[in-house]
Amino acid sequence: MALDVTRAKRSRFSSSSQAPLTLDAETMRRMGYRAIDAVVDHLTQIRQHHVLNVKSGRDLQRVLGQPLPREPEAFDTLIGDLEQHVFQNITHHDHPRFFAFVPGPGNYAGALAELLTNGFNVFCGTWIGGAGASEIELITLEWLRRLVGFPAGARGVFLSGGSEAGLVAMATARNVKLGNDPTNAVVYCSDQTHKSLDRNLWLLGFQPQQVVRLPCDETWRLRPELLAARIAGDRAKGLRPFCVVVNAGTTNTGSVDPLNEVAEICRREDLWLHADGAYGAGAIFCEPGRKVLSGIEKVDSLGLDPHKWMFQPYSAGCVMVRNGYDLRRTFSYSAEYLKLIEESDEPNFCDYGIQLTRDFRALKLWFSLKIFGADAFEAAQCRGIELAETVAKTVVQQRWWELVSPPQLAVVTFRFRPPGLDQETLDALNREIVDTFNKTGYGMVIYTKLNEETVIRMCTINPRTLDAEIQQCLEKLDHIAKTLYREWVVTEPPASI
Ligand SMILES: Cc1ncc(COP(=O)(O)O)c(C=O)c1O
Repeated sequence: MALDVTRAKRSRFSSSSQAPLTLDAETMRRMGYRAIDAVVDHLTQIRQHHVLNVKSGRDLQRVLGQPLPREPEAFDTLIGDLEQHVFQNITHHDHPRFFAFVPGPGNYAGALAELLTNGFNVFCGTWIGGAGASEIELITLEWLRRLVGFPAGARGVFLSGGSEAGLVAMATARNVKLGNDPTNAVVYCSDQTHKSLDRNLWLLGFQPQQVVRLPCDETWRLRPELLAARIAGDRAKGLRPFCVVVNAGTTNTGSVDPLNEVAEICRREDLWLHADGAYGAGAIFCEPGRKVLSGIEKVDSLGLDPHKWMFQPYSAGCVMVRNGYDLRRTFSYSAEYLKLIEESDEPNFCDYGIQLTRDFRALKLWFSLKIFGADAFEAAQCRGIELAETVAKTVVQQRWWELVSPPQLAVVTFRFRPPGLDQETLDALNREIVDTFNKTGYGMVIYTKLNEETVIRMCTINPRTLDAEIQQCLEKLDHIAKTLYREWVVTEPPASI
């Protein structure tokens, strides 16, 4: 199926034929069908592919590096090259055996929504620029608002992800509680809080010492009594406590901070309470998730990522602010050439975040909820929770394996602890198990540190993962662990480890 490039070439020089950068209808359709075939092949054959695929820049440059093309190239060759050299050289976050970091299971309806919104080149920054799209964004936000339990006056906006959601939330908190003056102000969180918080606060003019990371309890949750004591101590020193960031699902263990107790402290102390639910708050679609997230409705702002546990393609984040006016007055956009947009009573989404030109991210969540129904989301989330429980039950049945953190919001951590090895060697061994397993290409897990010890972590939110695949992963990890152990007890671990 070759693209008819002759006409495209001719048109570069002729005003009477097609305009530049234009294709005829038949060609567009043929290209579209071929692209959709590529996506469907990926989705239906993904299990045959390695999960982790990393080549060196030099190797990739060898096959991909080419000068700027002056002439059109054949579409079939291009898409074939993309399939072979680009899409097979990415780590498949949507692979059913990808358990590392936070998987991005994605879904086909969401991908189609991206095609549609790009095809129509929707501008969702102002009401006059995209009224229909803005209305869909409002409707989708309203669904989320009700699930979260925020009051009717709450407002939100879709954005790039958890990092940007945190930035928008912190800017709002700084504005409302500090009048934008960060001098001597302090933010509190647990030592399990995502690092994007520090970068966001740095961007907003805070110094590293203004972010207080408090040690967690034995379940990796913020300790309210420690928080209250630290706030009192800081006030006594003349500092300005203004914000607490709680985790609604930490990346490391899935733990949820004691939301109700911290909310009470924040109410008493007049502090802004932000919940980082980038990972875990997606679970509001399912009953077990809502139960664990009880108290989330009390926070002032909440970040939650549709591109994580709401199964949307990258990228899709969302921030919601309890008092919508706080968000609007922080970001409201005013420029002479934009006066026209102010004539509308309807919301302009550029007033709710940092983008003026905005794409239509809400569509993918809206579309996939419409195509599959919220019950399917609930079932998919319950499945992820169940898979983590299967991991926990299975891993402890294997000799010398121990659970470190129990399954919480579909995250579970464990460790291989055979006898006779000191802590340093055990850490090195667990890292080596992960590296060796990932190199097999069968699946992907990560290691992380908990209580200064290296642990293996799995995040099981992909609803397409089969029980048998969990079993296989754990058996392979066990086999690798015991092989390495046998090697290591007779020889020293390699110096590089
Ligand atoms: C708890 C948490 N917060 C924030 C982030 C940052 O989100 P993003 O990568 O979408 O910017 C992540 C990413 O994994 C996360 O797990």
